[in-house]
Amino acid sequence: MSQTPTTDHRLGFTSLEEETAVDSLPVAGALPAWLAGALVRVTPAKLEVGDRRLDHWFDGIAMLNRFGIAGGRVSYKSRFIDSVAYRDAQEGEWRHGGFATDPCRSLFKRVQSMFSPDVTDNPNVNLARIGERYIAMTETPLPIEFDAETLETVGHLEYTDKLKAHVTTAHPHHDPERDELVNYHAYFSRVSRYVLYGMPAGSSKRRVIAELPVKEPAYMHAFGMSGRHLILAEYPLRANPLKMAFAGKPFIQNYVWRPEEGTRFQVIDRETGALRGTYETDAFFCFHHVNAFEREGELVIDLIAYDDPSIIDALYLNADGPRGTIPSTELRRYVIDLDGGGVSWEKLADDVELPRIDYGRRNTRDYRYAYCSRSADAWFDQLVKVDVTDGSQSVWSAPGCHPGEPIFVRQPGTEAEDAGVVLSVVLDGPAGRSFLLALDARSFEELGRAEAPHHIPFGFHGQFLRA
Ligand code: CO
Repeated sequence: MSQTPTTDHRLGFTSLEEETAVDSLPVAGALPAWLAGALVRVTPAKLEVGDRRLDHWFDGIAMLNRFGIAGGRVSYKSRFIDSVAYRDAQEGEWRHGGFATDPCRSLFKRVQSMFSPDVTDNPNVNLARIGERYIAMTETPLPIEFDAETLETVGHLEYTDKLKAHVTTAHPHHDPERDELVNYHAYFSRVSRYVLYGMPAGSSKRRVIAELPVKEPAYMHAFGMSGRHLILAEYPLRANPLKMAFAGKPFIQNYVWRPEEGTRFQVIDRETGALRGTYETDAFFCFHHVNAFEREGELVIDLIAYDDPSIIDALYLNADGPRGTIPSTELRRYVIDLDGGGVSWEKLADDVELPRIDYGRRNTRDYRYAYCSRSADAWFDQLVKVDVTDGSQSVWSAPGCHPGEPIFVRQPGTEAEDAGVVLSVVLDGPAGRSFLLALDARSFEELGRAEAPHHIPFGFHGQFLRA
């Protein structure tokens, strides 16, 4: 590791080892008086274990960051999640594999771990509220519950059903009518399967909505939910579970890209669990769905598409940050003719990622605005508001600043889709620290910012928890 303090995006790939609590951060400008709650994010904050730099950004040890907001004042707190992976890391060990970092264990151990629960519990991707509980998640089915005020770890969420799973997503949906978390997981076996399930707010028992047998499961980071359907976009990045057990490779390296097979949308009826159809299109790769909704016999699916999965390779780490060049993306609108079977698409925006919408009111419905981060001239150097109805954009940027995921918070009692604020944790490279940025969602102009006492390593996702 270089000992030179960095003043650019590389600082965002520098470990943060200390846990902090500050009652009141310096605020420049003004946060709206109605804004009350906490922006909580989970971030891969520790990128070395022992003397070793972790191989991949997606393997960093999870820390929670909490910006508490009330009456225009902002507090800050950070705390590592007390996972098994964190305890191992404190001992300088990387014992349980992960996304792409090799635990260097024997073949026997690898085979054993593939078919046993000996997988990472490092929940560094996203968090969710389930009723009164809060969980942090990664892509193994081992979410960890935490206290959203103190950030203390409560413990693993123990499911009370008998479902077995190997991988899942850290991007569950919320079904407001049933008040349940909706997600999918894959079970690897001789006959593997995708399982779509709901878990009611007050329960730890998953309700199976649908099961789909699959020979070679695809790697899917998220999925879509419209009013009537659940949508798995199966990219042709697939693993053979039987080979996987013996290959001895880190998780993601078992997946093989076969673009000639194309991408398949598996569309499942939310009520009956029946497969409505399988719809094929040219190959693309994607992490994040944006939204999905029905429209006169058509299913509309908006997502962030890559030509191929080279983004995964690009995010392997060296001492400075990602090793590779970040490939371009397109915000695309796929339209499926549910009865005719045709799939068409159009581009809505270039080079955006980490999309958010007014989820509470617009998810599963036709909508107008997506908020994203963009890498224009450097690593995530813009926030972008995209009007998906006409492709027009508003952009925020500042010299030397690298904003993370923009999170929309609706102003209570308002109707307009963009009445509210957009919050983002921004790395200010020259200042050597991060700040919480609040933009007016309508004008996309800065309202205020609260300076964190140090840099916060780049992370993936977070949620605004209303007071
Ligand atoms: Co994600």
